[in-house]
Amino acid sequence: VRAAQIHTLDGPAAVRVVDLPDPEPGPDQVLIEVAAAGVCYPDVLLTRGLYQVKPDLPFVPGSEVAGTVLSAPAGAAVAAGDRVAAFPLLGGFAERVAVPLPLVFGLGPREVPFPQAAALPMNYLTVHFALTRRAGLQPGETVLVHGGAGGIGTAAIQLANALGARTIAVASTPQKQDVARAAGASAAVAADGFLAAVRELTDGRGADVVVDPVGGDRFTDSLRALAPEGRLLVIGFTGGEIPTVKVNRLLLTNVSVVGVGWGAYALGRPEFLRQQWAELLPHLAAGALDPPIQAVHPLADVGAALAGMEERRVLGKIVIGM
Ligand SMILES: NC(=O)c1ccc[n+]([C@@H]2O[C@H](COP(=O)([O-])OP(=O)(O)OC[C@H]3O[C@@H](n4cnc5c(N)ncnc54)[C@H](OP(=O)(O)O)[C@@H]3O)[C@@H](O)[C@H]2O)c1
Repeated sequence: VRAAQIHTLDGPAAVRVVDLPDPEPGPDQVLIEVAAAGVCYPDVLLTRGLYQVKPDLPFVPGSEVAGTVLSAPAGAAVAAGDRVAAFPLLGGFAERVAVPLPLVFGLGPREVPFPQAAALPMNYLTVHFALTRRAGLQPGETVLVHGGAGGIGTAAIQLANALGARTIAVASTPQKQDVARAAGASAAVAADGFLAAVRELTDGRGADVVVDPVGGDRFTDSLRALAPEGRLLVIGFTGGEIPTVKVNRLLLTNVSVVGVGWGAYALGRPEFLRQQWAELLPHLAAGALDPPIQAVHPLADVGAALAGMEERRVLGKIVIGM
């Protein structure tokens, strides 16, 4: 199979396309003919050895895919010929990948195009875990979403809306604010001055939940932007710096900072994963979850796609088509 491989931890430019032997599925694995693979920020971190997972070199990155089942264990819920999305964690930037059965997800009755399906597992399962289990989001609440034009951001906007919340996005440029509004944000504001804008949009009350995949120096203003009993979800640090919090702020305003590590929680819990996907499927069927795909690039362009993400140029989601 053709695959994009990381040989040295020198960033996106060092990714090379190579020919590898076909993957051999283990007894509990599903072999998938990959049609599309999603490009995620953790893949960028992997190219520099900065992700919490540190595979031996060389390795094939690519955490999420969509495609057609070639073979599946006897008695599995999926069978050869089925269209699926899957979360291999590694190995997805290749023409074929073997994935443990609990991480393979049927696409339901709607003909979800493969590029959109490939954009689901990482971000939509993460924001589902974040908004429902970690934040206990209630209908009618207001959710502020940082990085509102990114993968996690657009997924959070769509799922929060589907769960009956109101969403306000923060994004760095007018073009990115348009992407966030197109994903369903009721308002989109610049990062500079977002605190005042959120207060104005909520009649001074603030947001019940903040989705934060960015971190950095806006963290304290995110705490200030919370309504009483608000929850700030710590999802990632694309802004670079890992923020610190003076905990007296939590006491003074009755707010919480909540960690979100979807993989650490879900990957060892097959029943939880099944439940998560079952809760996403009706919203997918209704068209409420529809990842905004900016472009589908060929396998040869994996390095360029990862560089675009590292350089903050992605609008919505980039996918690799095989
Ligand atoms: N905790 C978990 O379980 C989990 C799961 C999946 C992903 N993540 C993390 O979530 C984060 C977002 O991932 P993603 O796939 O949504 O990435 P993405 O599509 O690139 O979106 C991230 C957003 O971060 C903003 N940003 C601010 N400063 C940036 C900078 N210096 N460089 C790049 N982007 C910057 C950008 O928005 P603006 O330009 O509008 O500011 C960008 O749209 C990553 O840190 C990832 O590792 C965590």
